[in-house]
Amino acid sequence: MIVIGSDHGGLDLKEALTGFLTARNLQITNVGTDNGDSVDYPHFGLKVAEMVAAGLAECGILVCGTGIGMSIVANKVPGIRAALVTDEFMARMAKEHNNANILVLGGRVLDAQQACGIVSAWLDASFEGGRHQGRLNQITEIEQKYCK
Ligand code: RB5
Repeated sequence: MIVIGSDHGGLDLKEALTGFLTARNLQITNVGTDNGDSVDYPHFGLKVAEMVAAGLAECGILVCGTGIGMSIVANKVPGIRAALVTDEFMARMAKEHNNANILVLGGRVLDAQQACGIVSAWLDASFEGGRHQGRLNQITEIEQKYCK
């Protein structure tokens, strides 16, 4: 299951992505927001990040206006590696090298076609492990040092 969330700035793109992913027979859980009223992105970013960190979802997708706020929020949660990406190359690298468990997109940056290509590139890629795992272990050590 993929958990997806947005603020008002990412709502339209989130809805387009939900339709795209559902058509690929992927199970999606939407945590909101569900209308265009102005809301605070940390609330929705935290919901998605906590579900992924707890193992309640395999991975997550977050969308706000730029993706910046959502990526800052999600990366505060231990165990989360949220990647804000703007093209398919970054999306593939985010999985192959960083094993990103949350993909973050900007609803005011990307159109739906670009975003669907980016999400597909991320979902279809595989973590390479090896030297990259050692680097992820170092990130975990940083979390353990500061997240007590
Ligand atoms: C909301 O206007 C906007 O600040 C938000 O969607 C996001 O871009 C923040 O980083």
